[in-house]
Amino acid sequence: MDHSNNILNGIEIGLGAWQWGEKNVWGYGEHYHEKDIEEAFSISLERGVKLVDTAEIYGNGRSEKILGKLLNNQNTHPIIASKLFPYPWRFTQKSVIRAFEGSLERIGLPRIDLYQIHWPNPIVPMETQLSGLAQMVTAGKLGAIGVSNFNQCQMFRAVRILLKYNIPLAANQVEYNLLNRTIEKNGLLQRCTEMGIRIIAYSPIAMGLLSGKYNQENPPTGLRGIKYANQIVKIQPLIRLLTEIGHDHEGKTAAQVAINWCICKGTLPIPGAKNFNQAASNAESAGWRLSEQEVASLDAESDRL
Ligand SMILES: NC(=O)c1ccc[n+]([C@@H]2O[C@H](COP(=O)([O-])OP(=O)(O)OC[C@H]3O[C@@H](n4cnc5c(N)ncnc54)[C@H](OP(=O)(O)O)[C@@H]3O)[C@@H](O)[C@H]2O)c1
Repeated sequence: MDHSNNILNGIEIGLGAWQWGEKNVWGYGEHYHEKDIEEAFSISLERGVKLVDTAEIYGNGRSEKILGKLLNNQNTHPIIASKLFPYPWRFTQKSVIRAFEGSLERIGLPRIDLYQIHWPNPIVPMETQLSGLAQMVTAGKLGAIGVSNFNQCQMFRAVRILLKYNIPLAANQVEYNLLNRTIEKNGLLQRCTEMGIRIIAYSPIAMGLLSGKYNQENPPTGLRGIKYANQIVKIQPLIRLLTEIGHDHEGKTAAQVAINWCICKGTLPIPGAKNFNQAASNAESAGWRLSEQEVASLDAESDRL
């Protein structure tokens, strides 16, 4: 299968939009508002970010709607990636197509560039989901198909199913950062590189932790507080190393170094941003490279955790 024209080839960094309209996990409407998102979007595009990643489930459709509003003011737009949530009642092609068309409507575009199956769900037949999406490709409403959180075995199945429609799998979106290198250890990253499937790296700064702003005195709350409760103390030497390395790159921040590490590994990180400053900083994580030695020392420090 020819992957040379994967729409994600050559894209270094994207912008994650889970935060847009999402109240429960991220506090949208309390600590940041639509104006902040507008500014995050504009500065990202201005600084060369070429992909925005959303999902129908983010903020219960609000993320897609906000994105649609922002796109309304643009002549050209970045690559738009969204996701289908595998609700157990979506077991017919029709329901998959209806879900996809719901995303189209909320984003307000006649076509989405990349649509990903958000999570594998053994209850929902993969054949049904992918054949529904393949129909959307044939109809010219969808550019490329991706999956998310699929292990190797699930991904191979998706590749085989899509082969019937002569459609290559464009991407597998998974968690990847210095605190979670599962895809390096289990071979998924290597396999994707060989097969021309882009790994889209979500949570590249470990939901903000690798920026260094959280510590024992100022721990993250909510979901993040639970997820990283055991790591907050242990990661401080890694934060120090990220900061030190950043100094040698004209004062790059720990977050920028952590994101660049994902790029150096051949993945496409999509840091989420709530405001202008975060988006501006994250966009500056691309367009330069850590040295091989710096990557190796970050690997070693993360291995110690
Ligand atoms: N496919 C999936 O299952 C899946 C799962 C998760 C995420 N995603 C996608 O991946 C994207 C990114 O992942 P993520 O949002 O989980 O984690 P992330 O990108 O590692 O972290 C984002 C959070 O870090 C903080 N932050 C962002 N930029 C910063 C900066 N420059 N300096 C300091 N803090 C900064 C912000 O939170 P605070 O300001 O509150 O600290 C922001 O909400 C999401 O938006 C979404 O599109 C996909």
